Amino acid sequence: MKPVRKVVFPVNGLGTRFLPATKATPKEMLPIVDMPLIQYAVAEAAAAGVTEMIFVTGRNKRAIEDHFDDYPELERELEEKGKDELLDLVRNIVPAGVKCVYIRQPKALGLGHAVLCAKPVVGNEPFGVMLADDLVDAKESCIGQLIKVRNEHNGGSVVAVQDVAPESTNKYGIVSVDDIAQQTSQMRGIVEKPDPAVAPSRMAVIGRYVFEPEIFDYLEKVEPGVGGEIQLTDGVAASLDTVPTYAYRFEGRRFDCGSKQGFLDATVHFARKRGFKIN
Ligand code: UTP
Repeated sequence: MKPVRKVVFPVNGLGTRFLPATKATPKEMLPIVDMPLIQYAVAEAAAAGVTEMIFVTGRNKRAIEDHFDDYPELERELEEKGKDELLDLVRNIVPAGVKCVYIRQPKALGLGHAVLCAKPVVGNEPFGVMLADDLVDAKESCIGQLIKVRNEHNGGSVVAVQDVAPESTNKYGIVSVDDIAQQTSQMRGIVEKPDPAVAPSRMAVIGRYVFEPEIFDYLEKVEPGVGGEIQLTDGVAASLDTVPTYAYRFEGRRFDCGSKQGFLDATVHFARKRGFKIN
């Protein structure tokens, strides 16, 4: 069984819920305390042993590439001033042994399309997908937990889920599974943003996935769905008959940092953890 060495970060959304902050700055560069969301995600992937970070970017996303690039002038300045701690911080933004690769999504046609854009870089191996605006604080790397589930099942795809309030199903992909009482259960269906009245459960997909490369074959055939976008959910739904896919209730606390409320909750949570006082 091939190990999961690569993670795809789709970062080409418009981030409209965070305007005006996201007009010229990618949503993924918004900081929680002092670290951009995307860096939390990369650190989580590196903690799981992932060595290749693949960013699906587009216009206005230069800041992400710059963030993970060397900055010799800044390093020299910090070195000369003896600011060793800051120097370490700047030098370790890309974790040791990790490579960053960038690929463009020419048009923001949807999350499924963004993942498909990474096909030439991912190739024929299993890979993770992480949405950086879902920030997960967990003892054990959330994407690492999913990789573990995949390994325990000798392969297959794994999707992170959490139980949401019944009235919130229309904000998520919602799954149906063999046994709703289990932490890990084989998925039988998935629908994008169903109304509470027709939702198959209240198990909602969050932005952590592990896929077999076959997902690309299905994504290639997906037609625009909810919101006129090529939905990742529809690709997953089409693959369920041939690729064993597991819904996994991850351990940890997830913050929806794509929403203002979630972003503020995360800021308070991580600030407290770091010893800041919230007055
Ligand atoms: P969202 O649905 O959160 O959209 O995308 P968004 O544009 O980022 O934010 P809002 O809703 O306008 O505020 C889910 C994920 O898919 C990526 C986004 O970057 C985000 O990580 N995405 C979405 C792409 O990379 N390309 C797309 O065409 C669409």
